Amino acid sequence: MLQTPPSDPIDLFNTWFQKAGESEPNDPNAMTLATVDGQGRPSARIVLLKGIHDGKFVFFTNLESRKGRELAENHHVALCFHWKSLHLQVRIEGTATKVSDQEADAYFTTRAVGSQIGAWASKQSHPLSDRSDLEEALAAYSLKFGDDHIPRPPYWSGFAVLPEIIEFWEEQPFRLHNRLVYFHENDTWQTIKLYP
Ligand SMILES: Cc1cc2nc3c(=O)[nH]c(=O)nc-3n(C[C@H](O)[C@H](O)[C@H](O)COP(=O)(O)O)c2cc1C
Repeated sequence: MLQTPPSDPIDLFNTWFQKAGESEPNDPNAMTLATVDGQGRPSARIVLLKGIHDGKFVFFTNLESRKGRELAENHHVALCFHWKSLHLQVRIEGTATKVSDQEADAYFTTRAVGSQIGAWASKQSHPLSDRSDLEEALAAYSLKFGDDHIPRPPYWSGFAVLPEIIEFWEEQPFRLHNRLVYFHENDTWQTIKLYP
């Protein structure tokens, strides 16, 4: 699939992503997100890709979570997709910026009510002494909002990752895989191949 690559890596990503949607048993949009803290110490976790807008990879989260706090200190990130059924990997390096309030609001309204209440009730990544504390918070917010429109919590939003480097990896026999790297230079995408 890497023999005649398109000039725009987003086109290639979309081709692979569509195939992943057809063949992965679940969460083809799951990607590892790596961030670093103010001291340069890395951490990684899975988040869900919720769209590619203007060439940027968008995900949503709690701004006061560990990743949210790290992104406030250092906006350099790495993303990694592994589609096991297809034997494909995509690695992305770039910078993350918070999406607009309008974009975050628009996505928040599409979430299930339970997820909206959960966003209010969960102090993501903070210590939880007992599961019942979370359940009480869920019940309290359910009561508070009732059947009303549930607004987006001020500490919940999204990030858009502008890619600087995108590497496509395709499994080949005897571990002699194909690797194609797109990098941005003079406002255009260039490509280079790497040894496996
Ligand atoms: C399949 C999957 C999808 C997930 N999607 C998200 C997501 O979109 N946003 C999010 O904040 N956490 C998501 N999580 C939870 C994160 O992996 C992580 O536990 C949480 O965000 C806290 O991370 P942090 O403490 O590093 O901030 C997902 C986990 C899995 C396994």
